[in-house]
Amino acid sequence: MTDLSICVNGIHFPNPFVLGSGPPGTNGRVIKRSFELGWGGIVCKTLSLDHSKVHNTVPRYGKLTDRENRKKVIGFQNIELISDRPFDLWLEELAECKAAYPDRILIASIMEEYERDKWVEIVERTQATGVDALELNLSCPHGLPERQMGAAMGQDAAIVEEVTAWAVAAAKIPVWAKMTPNVGDPRLSPEAATRAGADGISAINTILCTIGVNLETLRPMPTVEGYSVPGGYSGRAVLPIALRHVSEIARACPTASVSGMGGIETAEDAVQFMLLGASTVQICTGAMLRGYELIEELCLGLEAFMERHSFAKVEDFVGKSLPFFTTHADLVQRQLKAKRDKAGEVERDNMWRGDIAKETDSLVTD
Ligand SMILES: Cc1cc2nc3c(=O)[nH]c(=O)nc-3n(C[C@H](O)[C@H](O)[C@H](O)COP(=O)(O)O)c2cc1C
Repeated sequence: MTDLSICVNGIHFPNPFVLGSGPPGTNGRVIKRSFELGWGGIVCKTLSLDHSKVHNTVPRYGKLTDRENRKKVIGFQNIELISDRPFDLWLEELAECKAAYPDRILIASIMEEYERDKWVEIVERTQATGVDALELNLSCPHGLPERQMGAAMGQDAAIVEEVTAWAVAAAKIPVWAKMTPNVGDPRLSPEAATRAGADGISAINTILCTIGVNLETLRPMPTVEGYSVPGGYSGRAVLPIALRHVSEIARACPTASVSGMGGIETAEDAVQFMLLGASTVQICTGAMLRGYELIEELCLGLEAFMERHSFAKVEDFVGKSLPFFTTHADLVQRQLKAKRDKAGEVERDNMWRGDIAKETDSLVTD
């Protein structure tokens, strides 16, 4: 019997598939729908104390499609900000969702300005709703860095350490810190968050990009009143980059749990994140493009993988592929040794054949 549930930071997830922060968790109604359909958990759209400072544009999405099949989306850009819904309304809805679905996992994504009191207030008021954990959004790449929020914090390990410590000190529930991939060394900020007491690291948020230029208007996209701004890239195209970030983080922060994401659309995609150290996985763009019903296919696919390899529990394979990363110099040494061993084998094989030939000769002669 395969068991898809997993316990992470003391939280029991019915399965490791979590809807990532973004449009899939944009209000209480859709959060409840995700629970009905069987998602293991959901991270709500990021909240802040003062929604009146959040102004979204239309359009705010752009797509990179397959050359042969224009309907097939390979990569997705967004310049969407955090939630523009009132904080008090969010608190009511989070409490309602948790009361209606006590055994489903609800994680609140929160973000504030670089001020201790604001972080303490948002942590205290959000956790009072009964949510299971908090995810600190230290990683949104567009718009909010202009207010020194999101990636502006996440790209500076010293600020990550300070802000995470404020949140952890006020929190009575597990705290995950969500990381930006728009950095040189992906280990520094997660290490800082772990030092500050974060229970888990979520990665990756979106990768800075410009999705394209309109060849009629000659304007970069997405185009808002003739102008644009680089945004966040997600979807299938980012998966290999996300896998690398997650593997580096998992190796650098062995005491923290890792929630991996970036381009997951199938169970096979998700399993790769788990093999590289993620105990839960998050799906945002995949659910936007393929619908919340995707969860059924994900669970069936995970079960089939586990049965094929005789893994009874998810924990049995989390991080299983991590020990097989090494340095390039070591790869070269291993290849040289393999060649030498092979040559030795051939030599030994030839000697053995020679011995047999001699023996046969002697038999014939005798
Ligand atoms: C339209 C859109 C809005 C998003 N909004 C948020 C957000 O409010 N907070 C957050 O932490 N991440 C946000 N994200 C990032 C996703 O949670 C996720 O980290 C990223 O998209 C990579 O995963 P994916 O390829 O499964 O989408 C958003 C992503 C998209 C596409």
